[in-house]
Amino acid sequence: MALITWQDSYSVGVELIDSDHQLLVSLINQLDDAMKEGGGRDTVGSVLNVLLEYTETHFGREELLMEKAGYPELPPHRREHEKLTTQVRQIVDRFNGGDASSLDAEVLDFLKTWLTGHILGVDRKYAPFVKDLTLTPEELLASMNLDLGDLDGSADDEDSFADQLAKSN
Ligand SMILES: [Fe+2]
Ligand SMILES: [Fe+2]
Repeated sequence: MALITWQDSYSVGVELIDSDHQLLVSLINQLDDAMKEGGGRDTVGSVLNVLLEYTETHFGREELLMEKAGYPELPPHRREHEKLTTQVRQIVDRFNGGDASSLDAEVLDFLKTWLTGHILGVDRKYAPFVKDLTLTPEELLASMNLDLGDLDGSADDEDSFADQLAKSN
């Protein structure tokens, strides 16, 4: 059985955010499955790394939306994100550092609690402020924090891919 079952009550009423949250739920469930099935280090490790990356992407998107909306509670929300990111990064670092036993049911339970707790708590509060806003493709890309390197081969161009896209429009 899945560790977390998506419930209607988790919806914050903003499509982009709901699909991000569903993806995070799915990643935590995949991590749980991989561990229960005795998935190899590589499988568990890659799900963990994707979880960390997507967590950062998602938090970046939320912060951008809250910024656009002029949401007054952005600073404490951002601090909450920073705290959660640090906690997830510590879990990933411990695992990547060779301590596979550090990833246990307790950690999975922690991940479940932070995600559902954060969604039902603070995410719910900003939702009404941002529900009519959207992110442009450039903003979505920027939130993904992609390091696509040097796409056009010019060594002196330090613009990010998102910057380059924004300029080309
Ligand atoms: Fe969220
Ligand atoms: Fe959030």
